[in-house]
Amino acid sequence: TQSERDSLYIVMNYAKEYYKDLLLSSEEGRSIGLSYFRERGFNDRTIEKFELGYTLNEWDHLYKAARSKGYSEEILEKSGLLIVKKEEGKKYDRFRGRVIFPVHNLAGKVIAFGARILTKEKDQPKYINSPETEIYHKSNVLYGLYQGKNAIRKEEFCYLVEGYTDVLSLHQADIENVVASSGTALTEEQIKLMRRFTENVTVLYDGDAAGIKAALRGIDLVLKGGLNVRIVLLPDGEDPDSFSRKKGSTELKQYLKSNTQDFISFKIGLYSKDAGHDPIKKAEAIREIVTSIGVIPDPIKRSVYIQETSHLLKISESVLFTELNKLLIQDR
Ligand code: GTP
Ligand code: MN
Ligand code: MN
Ligand code: MN
Ligand code: MN
Repeated sequence: TQSERDSLYIVMNYAKEYYKDLLLSSEEGRSIGLSYFRERGFNDRTIEKFELGYTLNEWDHLYKAARSKGYSEEILEKSGLLIVKKEEGKKYDRFRGRVIFPVHNLAGKVIAFGARILTKEKDQPKYINSPETEIYHKSNVLYGLYQGKNAIRKEEFCYLVEGYTDVLSLHQADIENVVASSGTALTEEQIKLMRRFTENVTVLYDGDAAGIKAALRGIDLVLKGGLNVRIVLLPDGEDPDSFSRKKGSTELKQYLKSNTQDFISFKIGLYSKDAGHDPIKKAEAIREIVTSIGVIPDPIKRSVYIQETSHLLKISESVLFTELNKLLIQDR
């Protein structure tokens, strides 16, 4: 109900302010959380812009603080901030001893949190996130969209990255047209959401095998959503955050500028990397590319991409169209 949703916004806002206060004003928050962000190179402006926070390493400090302010146990549980185990008669804060990344909706209201562990504990996940609630449907949310939407409109494209810290680091490097799918594989809803702000997406995932695999999947999903997609490959082992910190703003911008390629050249590069003049590998590359072209809804764009592929791979357009039509018929 609307009133329940309103209560959730209010309790999430309370928690956000509480976590922010802990980061900036408590002894533990400053010595552990704030130093963590500092060591990662995040400055005050970034911390404030993204409303970063810290949660104490205690079982139920948020619960106690919120109860004393009059928030009900019920709303705390519904918000996902409190975990209640009825059978065991236990309740405890979901987020403990972690740094906090609030997730904002388009209006700037906090609807969820991501929380990162500070130490390397093997049995603990690096990030934990809010569960789905009445106000948080993770497949409909893009991290950083609230902070980046004006820049996305202005630049007329949007970088798509994997993680929270990638968004932060790009902002700090003066690149604000960026969003992350954070903690979920990219969804059709997220692409529709992006589409409200731009037609152009540049995938900037981690430079590792997982990142490339996710990028391939992301490319087809973005194309299917009717958006134009480009991609930047980062050096092996780097993500936008680490790379940005290593290079600094000017060099990062230069790298992005000269390493942005359209999805066709990316796929050609990927599939013909060790192919040499191997006809089988080349055929495989062609099929991979035509498969991506096949998901593009606009027939005019499809034919432009066929022309480009024909040119780049030196193969006749008619062969490519025949292959494309096979796919399109199969799909029906
Ligand atoms: P840092 O190590 O802080 O730089 O994070 P990262 O963003 O580089 O992490 P990584 O590349 O491993 O993962 C990308 C994104 O996936 C993260 O920002 C999270 O949103 C999400 N993610 C990573 N690890 C976990 C996890 O253990 N659990 C969940 N739920 N999400 C995760
Ligand atoms: Mn709903
Ligand atoms: Mn990764
Ligand atoms: Mn990463
Ligand atoms: Mn990282």
